[in-house]
Amino acid sequence: MASVTGAVSCRLFPSASRARISISSPSSSSSLSPLSLSSSFSYFFSPLKCLPTSPFVPHFFLIQKASWMSTVAVASDPSQLKSAREDIKELLKTKFAHPILVRLGWHDAGTYNKNIEEWPKRGGANGSLRFEVELKHGANAGLVNALNLLQPIKDKYSGVTYADLFQLASATAIEEVGGPKISMKYGRVDVSAPEECPEEGRLPSAGPPKPAEHLREIFYRMGLNDQEIVALSGAHTLGRSRPDRSGWGKPETKYTKSGPGAPGGQSWTIEWLKFDNSYFKDIKERKDEDLLVLPTDAVLFEDPSFKVYAEKYAEDQEAFFKDYAEAHAKLSNLGAKFDPPQGIVLDGVTGEKFVAASYSSGKD
Ligand code: HEM
Repeated sequence: MASVTGAVSCRLFPSASRARISISSPSSSSSLSPLSLSSSFSYFFSPLKCLPTSPFVPHFFLIQKASWMSTVAVASDPSQLKSAREDIKELLKTKFAHPILVRLGWHDAGTYNKNIEEWPKRGGANGSLRFEVELKHGANAGLVNALNLLQPIKDKYSGVTYADLFQLASATAIEEVGGPKISMKYGRVDVSAPEECPEEGRLPSAGPPKPAEHLREIFYRMGLNDQEIVALSGAHTLGRSRPDRSGWGKPETKYTKSGPGAPGGQSWTIEWLKFDNSYFKDIKERKDEDLLVLPTDAVLFEDPSFKVYAEKYAEDQEAFFKDYAEAHAKLSNLGAKFDPPQGIVLDGVTGEKFVAASYSSGKD
């Protein structure tokens, strides 16, 4: 059955360079996969012709509508996503911004509230973090630097949404420093105005009175479980904390005083630009005063349920990588609205375990 999602998407993405109309055979139209998008016959039309006021829009789709056709408009363009990924890799080679890009992606997605159905009120990976009002939230201190690094890439690829770019940058950064391959999908729709940003206070604090309770309250609200909390905390194998941003950490240590990248801050691990399981080993041992352990890191070895996973990941890097990759893919999709609803896969089949539809109905 053909759909008219293209018209809706054009209204949502006036900045998109083009919408893609795919025409599939009758047999493939009911099970259109992200991959079949690129293999099916497709052509493009100018976004100027699909402004909300244009009478051309409904006509265009009505004329095209037939039982053997499927019209699908995408939020991001697959070829532009791939080019943007190469640009991100180049950027990382000179800026060593891997950690802050991971933090950017996580803070865009981590505002998700599973108890709110409506998009974008539910928060999540929707690009809202580009707006000043959200960048100014205390938890986001310093992330304006990450946005500034990515902005030229965004300017270059109008067919890539902010929401996708943030998640693309994060997954690429992890892979580039030795982390697991993450089964990502793209096509996230951007919010369009600062009024659509979530209220402050949805992200975790590093020093709450009861860290385990706090982590559960925040991450359960996102629909994540204990194992995912521990696995995702392992992202602190990368990067540093800076007192002038979050208020946590030392101004500099022997591991950070000469960079790479902007010097200073306190890292959780010695090689803080290498993705491995040393975070779990180091917070378990706590031997080195130059390495950071936040109250919310320490609790991973104190709470009986968290401890099972923390111990496992300290012993077994492969288990950590596997669980991290799955949890990261899930995090990156939280609250996102995908266009097309099944998302766009760049490199093959997505190995994500959870059902995307429970996070993205594609209806609103
Ligand atoms: C579990 C609750 C979490 C808390 C309380 C927390 C807290 C923090 C704090 C205080 C900083 C230092 C920021 C600064 O001063 O610049 C930080 C940095 C960082 N966080 Fe988390 N975080 C949490 C979870 C996560 C998760 C789930 C991820 C990713 C999946 C993540 C990724 C990072 C990264 C990569 C950095 C380093 C950023 C840089 O070097 O610029 N964090 N986090």
